[in-house]
Amino acid sequence: MFITFEGGEGSGKSTQSKILYQKLKSEGRKCLLTHEPGGTKIGEEISRILKATYDTPVSGETELLLFNASRAQIVEEVIRPALDKGTIVICDRYADSTLAYQGYGRGIPLRTVRNANNLGTKGLKPDITFFLDIDPRVCFKRKTNKLDRIELEDIRFHEKVRKGFQKISKQEPERFIVIDGTLDAEKISEIIWEHVQKKLNE
Ligand code: TMP
Repeated sequence: MFITFEGGEGSGKSTQSKILYQKLKSEGRKCLLTHEPGGTKIGEEISRILKATYDTPVSGETELLLFNASRAQIVEEVIRPALDKGTIVICDRYADSTLAYQGYGRGIPLRTVRNANNLGTKGLKPDITFFLDIDPRVCFKRKTNKLDRIELEDIRFHEKVRKGFQKISKQEPERFIVIDGTLDAEKISEIIWEHVQKKLNE
């Protein structure tokens, strides 16, 4: 089973993916937690390039290709082999982030983003995706650490990304579980656990 977490900055994805990983582990299940961009040696190098700030603007297409370069590596090196061994894979961000950020956020035609994503994912789709939906204004108030290049984009960009995630999740309701990101972390983790248990029992 392949589970992904999606949402804007500071939406609680990383916290929730860790909680789910711990719960599955404590049940004795084979489970792997990873993240994008990164998750491999090459991917972490690409992630560093993506998050750095430069004195010239970074083209949306450059981002699109770099995120998918990192993705192609993690799919081939980590995710596919783990799934083939029957391990449950949890990934903090995946291809839907590219559709939301580079497609809806940067304005690259969605068809172009989908084509690039098909290359990066080699057609591998999550079985279940949790979208933690929350107003980016609330999230940025919570953030205390230093912001990277994409986080530093203005609030209008982050609002477009949120709207993007909302549209994507409506297009695939059988895969997406949309959760109100303003709920407290414990409640969110309970909702996630119920859905994962249901999926595991199917
Ligand atoms: P992170 O903060 O979850 O590590 O993600 C890094 C940043 O990259 C975050 O601002 C979201 C952004 N991002 C994209 O723009 N497109 C993508 O495909 C992915 C995976 C992340």
